[in-house]
Amino acid sequence: MQVAVMRHLVNLLDLAVDDVQEILNRSAELKREVKSGTRRPILAGRILGQLFEKPSLRTRVSFEAAMCQLGGSGIFLSAADAGLNGRESIADVARVVTSYCDVIVLRTFSHQLIEDFAKYGQCAIVNGLSDVSHPCQALADMLTMQEAFGTVAGKRLAYVGDGNNVAVSLAEACAMLGVSFVCGAPQGYQLPQEILDDLTRRYPKAELEQTDDPRAAVQGADVVYTDVWASMGQEAEKEKRAKVFADFQVNAELMKHAGKQARFLHCLPARRGLEVTDEVMEGPACLAFEQAENRMHLAKGLFVWQLT
Ligand code: CP
Ligand code: NVA
Repeated sequence: MQVAVMRHLVNLLDLAVDDVQEILNRSAELKREVKSGTRRPILAGRILGQLFEKPSLRTRVSFEAAMCQLGGSGIFLSAADAGLNGRESIADVARVVTSYCDVIVLRTFSHQLIEDFAKYGQCAIVNGLSDVSHPCQALADMLTMQEAFGTVAGKRLAYVGDGNNVAVSLAEACAMLGVSFVCGAPQGYQLPQEILDDLTRRYPKAELEQTDDPRAAVQGADVVYTDVWASMGQEAEKEKRAKVFADFQVNAELMKHAGKQARFLHCLPARRGLEVTDEVMEGPACLAFEQAENRMHLAKGLFVWQLT
């Protein structure tokens, strides 16, 4: 008997480029369908479980809405309610909860916790953000770029800000899909060089750069992207980081350096007045709300890829 391979999304790099393309195509197709008024119950009776250690608006709601639109239903538990704070072992929680559900989305501090669920569990697992990566965000970002430009290959994305979980997943998605990626971050807050070297080994045609000059980073970019300077769990560093990153704010002047073609993306939540100004968020280049909506369409494409 052939055992079906479980389709997890724990690390983007575990997926083949064809899988990524298939998820994006499915997502775009399901988006077109829902916009024309059709909601097919492709996943009728399927159950999504969500276990979160950190707050969330987009991830939590878009995944649950996605499953409901596809005819399934969702259950949400804080990680503490689920017993992940030491009530029982992670392996036992994973074995039990994955026996009730078809897919589990986890949002965690430790990336290892998501890996452990994939190891001990018996259903599909999705990384809904860890301290290391945010793959579903990067896929929704690629979907947003695909819509804006028709294709992503050959475009240039400048990420300006902290070399964090969002930046790691973006670099990975760009390397996989032929998007030229540049990270503009202060020294000490750039992406670990090993990550970029590993991406270049895996995808020899990938174009990946880093600089500590935000103006040089955005020059000629099709997309200027930023995220918060202090991620969840780094609240104590907020003030220090506000000073370190002060020159890395995405404002009208920085967007001028990018050029007229440049669009603006932000995974949200945005700290207006810090990493981005109101003017950019409300300006014509901003696609952040289309991007946020695309989290749901991407979640649908992902679930259909994982469960059918
Ligand atoms: N972009 C994102 O993941 O948003 P939430 O933290 O609100 O889920
Ligand atoms: N880097 C941010 C992303 C939030 C969606 C964080 O981890 O808090």
